Amino acid sequence: MAFFTSATESIPVNTAVPQHIAVIMDGNGRWAKKRFLPRVAGHKRGMDAVLELVKTCVSLNIGYLTLFAFSSENWRRPADEVSFLMSLFIQGLKREVKKLHENNIKLILIGDRTRFNAELIAQIELSEKLTAHNTGLTLSIAANYGGRWDILQAVNKLHMASPELAGAYQEEHLTPHLAMHYAPEPDLFIRTGGESRISNFLLWQLAYTELYFTDTLWPDFDEEALHLALTSYQKRERRFGRTGEQLSPANT
Ligand code: IPE
Ligand code: IPE
Ligand code: MG
Repeated sequence: MAFFTSATESIPVNTAVPQHIAVIMDGNGRWAKKRFLPRVAGHKRGMDAVLELVKTCVSLNIGYLTLFAFSSENWRRPADEVSFLMSLFIQGLKREVKKLHENNIKLILIGDRTRFNAELIAQIELSEKLTAHNTGLTLSIAANYGGRWDILQAVNKLHMASPELAGAYQEEHLTPHLAMHYAPEPDLFIRTGGESRISNFLLWQLAYTELYFTDTLWPDFDEEALHLALTSYQKRERRFGRTGEQLSPANT
């Protein structure tokens, strides 16, 4: 079922704790390099940071957490790193899915899964099916995901579904076909690892998201680091095009 919340079509409700956090988990390789370890050791530790963040989000009652695990451009990495990441993904799902389920977490993979091997596809389907009816945190993992891929596949699906509307497509026609149609747009975006870029993550959905960049490397991103991001978020004035004066209590 489509879930349409658009910051450009209407003004979203603003809450002190974000409803939806989207994260680019960057810096695993540098974390390892600093310790004279192979890059893959950083990815392994990165997995621990994922589990810790999920736990914290559950305890804070955050509705949606979306994690960028592998971009459509990450195939350009050395083959052995790519295959390590794929097997980490399979093993991580196998090991953790029961615990996610017990914690009422719904797991969804966003991205083009057709390029994954059969074992990974099967494990993803199994994990999604097991957790499909859970009502707690919705944990979306973006894997072989690209923001441009997402917009294009949505346009193509829309065109197939409603060719008669071609030339008059509106937001509400397109958004049900986006990979994350079931979630509100992210309130807070976090990128660890010191780079200030989006790297083809949620291009459509980040239109009015508050952006937070930190030098902390992903394996070091702990509960305290999340609280720093939340504190920064709480200081923002989310105007969505209006003036600051329009937001003052006298005018609401
Ligand atoms: C992010 O860490 C993890 C993935 C992209 C899978 P990196 O592997 O990009 O780490 P750095 O940026 O090289 O430190
Ligand atoms: C972005 O990180 C993708 C993920 C974290 C999965 P990258 O490390 O691949 O981004 P760039 O290449 O530095 O922009
Ligand atoms: Mg990186």
